[in-house]
Amino acid sequence: MAFFIPEDKLAEIRNTADIVDVVSSRVLLKKAGKDYTGLCPFHSEKTPSFTVSPSKQIFHCFGCGTGGNVFNFLMMYDNLSFPEAAENLARQYGISISARKMSGAEKQRMSEREQLLQINRKAADFFRKMLLKNPEGEYARNYLKNRKINRDLVDRFSLGFAPAGWNGLIRFFNRNRVAVDMAEKAGLVVPRKSGNGHYDRFRNRIIFPIADASGQIIAFGGRVLDDEKPKYLNSPETPVYNKRLTLYGLNASREACRTHHAVFVVEGYFDLITMHQFGIANTVATLGTSLTREHVRRLKGYAKKAFLVFDSDAAGVRAAQRTTGIFMDEGMDAAVVLLPEGHDPDSFLFARGAESFQQVAASAKGLVDFQIDASIGRNGLNLEGKVRIVSEMAEPLTQIADSAARSIYIRHLAERIGVDETTVLEKIAESREKSNAASDRPPGVAPDGHAWIPDRFEARVLAMMLQYPEIHDEIRTRAVLECFGDERLKAIGEQILNEYPHKVKTPAEFMNRLDDEDQRRLVAKLCIDEAPWGEQSCRMLLSQFFKAKEGKRGNGLLERIRAAEQKGDQDLVMKLLKEKQNQMAGRH
Ligand code: GTP
Ligand code: MN
Repeated sequence: MAFFIPEDKLAEIRNTADIVDVVSSRVLLKKAGKDYTGLCPFHSEKTPSFTVSPSKQIFHCFGCGTGGNVFNFLMMYDNLSFPEAAENLARQYGISISARKMSGAEKQRMSEREQLLQINRKAADFFRKMLLKNPEGEYARNYLKNRKINRDLVDRFSLGFAPAGWNGLIRFFNRNRVAVDMAEKAGLVVPRKSGNGHYDRFRNRIIFPIADASGQIIAFGGRVLDDEKPKYLNSPETPVYNKRLTLYGLNASREACRTHHAVFVVEGYFDLITMHQFGIANTVATLGTSLTREHVRRLKGYAKKAFLVFDSDAAGVRAAQRTTGIFMDEGMDAAVVLLPEGHDPDSFLFARGAESFQQVAASAKGLVDFQIDASIGRNGLNLEGKVRIVSEMAEPLTQIADSAARSIYIRHLAERIGVDETTVLEKIAESREKSNAASDRPPGVAPDGHAWIPDRFEARVLAMMLQYPEIHDEIRTRAVLECFGDERLKAIGEQILNEYPHKVKTPAEFMNRLDDEDQRRLVAKLCIDEAPWGEQSCRMLLSQFFKAKEGKRGNGLLERIRAAEQKGDQDLVMKLLKEKQNQMAGRH
């Protein structure tokens, strides 16, 4: 990604990379007719409206309207720049992009994101060398040995060590010509409060590089070697690190999640690594934040069910309370695995082994059931207890947006504790009113409500132009675009006429030429939406189109002639006059 990708290489990548391949490694897809469908990774949904077309090499979501080609998918999913997406695909498909040194100008052009990722890679190398080779790393090597992390795991998770001084990394950056302001942006160095200069953020810590789904290092976590505080330190959010999207270990675990249709969600770095060590590789870690909606959307792409692993009742309850609504909305199954008090997955596995862990996991309860049980445990089933249970459960049940699911759980709760269903319902209604008043998320608002509603007829003409380039000559001679009312559609149409067939040949290629997000979404929709075009259907559409235009504006043709005259476009005037003659001839 650090280098410039020549046009012929891009073409090779485009021709080799298969969108179904790429998307299905991140989203569960099912064949549906000639296309594939799945749950959209870019908005909440329970029934698949995300569609991938292998023949057109395009994706489109009928739910949220997003769409594009294979490059756009990677750019959106992994938050990559175009060259990064291209480089990623090249790597995956074994296409070599000659790694030549960048010129000064190219360095300038390298995006901030790319620079930050490069800095992170350099830092990870530095930390790794410090761990493996440096005398100072001895203490860290012993620490890992004591925690039974062997060399293989150190390699698999690229673990490292940040030395104790205040400027080990800074000096390394100076030697390697990394600008300190960029290192600061990457979150690796911190400006001193007084005076000038910076110091290393991570000092005397075991380092855990945090990768995104495609394996690029986007942040770091660090653990002290003793009882210093804070025990763990993480990178701040940066242009490449978004906590809400990131799960530690996802890159290492995604294959296993697919195979098992399930994912374990643990809380810590060491928990994740130990799960791997004990062969339970379908695991991700949340790193001290609670699971977000975005996390769940990503997990849905790899597994049907999530097992949230906790070391105490209280932690499990808190997490279940926070995430029940999210899992329900996203239509993902989730259950709580409770380890014996005082154990986290790391300590449990070393004490009891993988089989015991799987046994505990097998008795995991669903999120709502888990909360009901916990509430019963806390309050008991006497009269006062039941009252408190109903009132405690009102909040989580309110979070269930799906009314069918909600009523099933309400009945379930009523039966469990032996109260009348209507009593529970009333309490829930009360709680709903309260939470509606407090909610900052307006109910029923689409995740991204795009305001542009394109003219449908004109959009169909564009769909035809995209999918049936044979019609372009006719579009030109009949000056079809001249009667478009929607300027943005007209601009796309003009771009199609300009770029086909010399610069682009397929809709998927055309996507790369569109900078505007709205345009790209529309083009993807138009490509997937429509029936195959042939000469007949094209002519029919054009004649309907003209009829509609004439109907709307009185005499559209005359108007177009007038407009062409005003613009001084004599060629067009002639063309239109000829068309007018044809029309007259047709009428007789
Ligand atoms: P070990 O003690 O090394 O086994 O770590 P642990 O993972 O068991 O620690 P703990 O259960 O205390 O924390 C779980 C996760 O929460 C950690 O892996 C961190 O991601 C996060 N965390 C814990 N302590 C801190 C802290 O002091 N600061 C921050 N930012 N995160 C923390
Ligand atoms: Mn632990």
